[in-house]
Amino acid sequence: MTTGKIPPGPKGSPISGCARELGDDRIGFLCELQRTYGDIVRFRVWDRTLYLVSDPELIKEVFVTNHKNFTKSRSLKLARHVFGDGLLTNEGESHKRQRRMMQPAFHMKRIHGYGETMIQYAQRHADFWETENLDGKSVDISHEMMRLTMAIVAKTLFDSDVESEAEAIGEALTSVVGLFERTFHPAAVLLTLMPTRKNFRFLRSRARIDKTIYRMIAERRASGKDHGDLLSMLLNAQDEADGSGMTDKQIHDEAITLFLAGHETTANALTWTWYALSQNPEVEARFHEELDEVLGGELPTPDDLPKLEFTRRVFAESMRMYPPAYIIGRMAIEEFQLGEYTLPARSVVLLSPYVCQHNPALFEDPECFDPDRWAAEKQRERHKFSYFPFGGGPRTCIGESFAWMEGILLLATIGQRWRMQFPEGRKVAFDPQITLRPKDGLPMMLTRRSPAQVAQAIA
Ligand code: HEM
Repeated sequence: MTTGKIPPGPKGSPISGCARELGDDRIGFLCELQRTYGDIVRFRVWDRTLYLVSDPELIKEVFVTNHKNFTKSRSLKLARHVFGDGLLTNEGESHKRQRRMMQPAFHMKRIHGYGETMIQYAQRHADFWETENLDGKSVDISHEMMRLTMAIVAKTLFDSDVESEAEAIGEALTSVVGLFERTFHPAAVLLTLMPTRKNFRFLRSRARIDKTIYRMIAERRASGKDHGDLLSMLLNAQDEADGSGMTDKQIHDEAITLFLAGHETTANALTWTWYALSQNPEVEARFHEELDEVLGGELPTPDDLPKLEFTRRVFAESMRMYPPAYIIGRMAIEEFQLGEYTLPARSVVLLSPYVCQHNPALFEDPECFDPDRWAAEKQRERHKFSYFPFGGGPRTCIGESFAWMEGILLLATIGQRWRMQFPEGRKVAFDPQITLRPKDGLPMMLTRRSPAQVAQAIA
């Protein structure tokens, strides 16, 4: 029971609460809650009471100041079926230890080396569109970005090409998304254990992935060779506290977590960026101008990153308008104070980058795609937790630097050669599951930017 004042919010239906509203238009409903009731809103979905928190200072409280009082919420607990005890779903001391061991591998200096792989794979993809004669043709850009980021994460993680495993991984991913659909259902856990076709398919694809990863671990342990990839890093990691390493099970869980967390989100961020560019021709022209000026028709290198400032702003603005992780959940361990309210133990708190980043009180004219919001002086004026596409505090995304580098380098490599146009008159809709995907993909027409055009622009 909540003691004292109760935050405002809608009543919903007596049985399912706001399940229908959340199911019909999740994003619209959450934004509406904030607009109607303010920065702390209480609502019920089936048996769960949820609190949507949208004040940056209170978000900081949950992520940073009072983080010890929160665990991950039910959706991520369900995801344990896939991620095991990997970083994303792990908790407490075990999480702290794993994070400590893995952090060095994600420092900017270490991941710089992966930049070359990112550029090489993006170039290969841009070539593929050319050899397939896709100039003037429509492709599902969401599918294309998923394939590209999956190939990059497979190379940087396992030093391998994943074509043969792609199908199983795709199936496993779809199954995880399926689990998330049930998150708010009162029998969510039971549904996951039922002998349904969906669950069998999931178990089959997971078994295939498990086999592949354990085989790779065994081969690496036997050969002792350092491949310079993330898997070698996991195998070599030692806890500074006691010098111990990771077990095969831990390595497996971390590998699968990095694989899935490391490509779906970035693919969505890139998909939305291409869409945003297609809708904002002036921004797109400035983007091309920067690419032509900085790269002069040559491939980028990781050292070009600081010079691709406008591209960085475009990517940042895209993640403001279309944050791939549009909602982040936490569950309170003990009763706690949030602003003027005392919320009970087991309260589920929802922090939504989408809601905050579209709030006109935090971002002027939020529906306008304006990369110049990310000029350093403007950025400094804003509260750190008005923009949090990568979360915050000790559970902040470990792959953030990796994602920025990948986003900017892929945009530069592909954007130099190709434009994407969204069919006029067609509407885009959200499919907000674990990440913010476009509903039914995102068909876009590819148009080749010819070398002559680029040369002319440079001149
Ligand atoms: C645009 C791309 C990305 C976005 C928007 C994103 C977003 C996020 C967010 C919001 C969280 C925090 C979740 C929470 O607090 O519950 C998170 C955690 C995490 N992300 Fe990312 N991510 C991205 C890319 C990546 C990449 C490239 C990797 C790995 C190569 C990665 C690996 C992880 C892991 C392992 C965690 C769990 C960290 C922990 O709890 O200690 N992510 N990500």
